[in-house]
Amino acid sequence: MIKKLLPLAFIGLAVAGVLLVGAMGLNWYYNGNKPDQPIAFNHNLHIEKVGLECTHCHRYTDKSPQAGIPSVSICMGCHESAAIDRPEVKKLRAFWERKEPIAWNKVHIQPWHVRFTHKRHIKAGIECTHCHGEVKAMTTVRKVRTLEMGWCVSCHREKNAPTDCLNCHK
Ligand code: HEC
Ligand code: HEC
Ligand code: HEC
Ligand code: HEC
Ligand code: HEC
Repeated sequence: MIKKLLPLAFIGLAVAGVLLVGAMGLNWYYNGNKPDQPIAFNHNLHIEKVGLECTHCHRYTDKSPQAGIPSVSICMGCHESAAIDRPEVKKLRAFWERKEPIAWNKVHIQPWHVRFTHKRHIKAGIECTHCHGEVKAMTTVRKVRTLEMGWCVSCHREKNAPTDCLNCHK
């Protein structure tokens, strides 16, 4: 009896292992890259409570390839006076006084050979949420799409955007 069950137990273990690795992969897929940041910047708070538009800080989405990460001076436009008692805002002020730019860690990292541009996509009317998810609901921004080639290409096909290799590769 026990001898007969032993192989079953092994199969069970193997299946559990595969499921575990799969679940870890899915977790990465859905929760993506979410690096620690020099200052705990909260998107949800600034969008839902303070009422800012994305483009208040990411100023170049419709003008250039890069969306742009805001400089300390954009933050200080409010934080000369807003919430100055909070520890994370004190850190912000210290960067400002040292005239030191904040070295934010990247959330989205494309391989070097990929060409991407915000401008064309924003001008074509594609929303930030399509590619970045519901950032306004995120305390800490994270990557929610894998941004792999198949995903880019399938939308390009659907919308009659260019699909030749050199469009997206250098
Ligand atoms: C008050 C300024 C501010 C506003 C408003 C804001 N952001 Fe950000 N955003 C930042 C800062 C600072 C970072 C870099 C730190 C971080 O990753 O949290 C960032 C990072 C990001 C990133 C990750 C960038 C990377 O490293 O790949 C995305 C995506 C993003 N923001 C999208 C949005 C969207 C979409 C909106 C509107 C719904 C928005 N942001 C509104 C300041 C802002
Ligand atoms: C068609 C998909 C797509 C749309 C739409 C899009 N993004 Fe992005 N975004 C990306 C990709 C891909 C990257 C990584 C590209 C890179 O590393 O250059 C990125 C990177 C970023 C970054 C970090 C690097 C940078 O470019 O400064 C920020 C901030 C950002 N996006 C904000 C926004 C905001 C705000 C909007 C809406 C106004 C938006 N994105 C719309 C795909 C998109
Ligand atoms: C339009 C004004 C405005 C801008 C621009 C702005 N903030 Fe704020 N921020 C606020 C206000 C208002 C609060 C306090 C919100 C509350 O809790 O009621 C706040 C809160 C904060 C906090 C404290 C959050 C907490 O949970 O204690 C941090 C940290 C912060 N902001 C960082 C930044 C950074 C970094 C930037 C630039 C990338 C920035 N802010 C840009 C208005 C702004
Ligand atoms: C619409 C944009 C787009 C087009 C068109 C496109 N690619 Fe890509 N490609 C990407 C992106 C984004 C990545 C990086 C993400 C990934 O690895 O899936 C990539 C990655 C790759 C890689 C590296 C895969 C790896 O594992 O690192 C190769 C090789 C490649 N592409 C070849 C091609 C060839 C050949 C063509 C033309 C038949 C092509 N691509 C067309 C967007 C595109
Ligand atoms: C939701 C649909 C959609 C997704 C997803 C998307 N694109 Fe696009 N892309 C478009 C459209 C539509 C255009 C054409 C805009 C125009 O006609 O100006 C475009 C244009 C471009 C261009 C400019 C083409 C040129 O002629 O210069 C590049 C580069 C590009 N996309 C790369 C990418 C890469 C890389 C990804 C994935 C990381 C991606 N796109 C994901 C819809 C999309």
